[in-house]
Amino acid sequence: MIRATFTASALLVAGLAMGYTASATADDIERGERLSSSCVACHGPGGNSHIPAMYPSLAGRDAGELATLLAAYRDGDIQDSQMTPQATHLSDEDIVDLAAYFAAQEPK
Ligand code: HEC
Repeated sequence: MIRATFTASALLVAGLAMGYTASATADDIERGERLSSSCVACHGPGGNSHIPAMYPSLAGRDAGELATLLAAYRDGDIQDSQMTPQATHLSDEDIVDLAAYFAAQEPK
């Protein structure tokens, strides 16, 4: 039951992100960039992690995948003592914009 809920919710956000990045405007990515200021401490500038084994790199990854993972942390389907508190307050729109921003960054 929990699993089914997770799948439905995560797929919805992922679907939003995929449709959204296809049509992501500079404003959407810019909003994601503003929201990302709290993420860079761990995930590195532009999502290029300094310590990828501990903090996964996010730059240039598939927006749908990033959105699915973020929704899973937010909804408690994946739990991590560091990451969970970062995701609990995010709206669907925040998740989609953050995913669009990191997907648009060049991996280094
Ligand atoms: C305090 C450090 C910290 C901050 C700040 C942080 N994260 Fe994370 N994040 C982590 C850690 C640690 C993991 C890996 C957790 C695990 O292994 O489950 C992670 C995992 C992730 C993942 C999954 C990546 C994967 O490959 O599994 C995504 C997506 C993500 N973070 C996005 C974000 C976003 C977006 C923000 C800002 C809103 C953010 N994180 C802020 C520490 C942080």
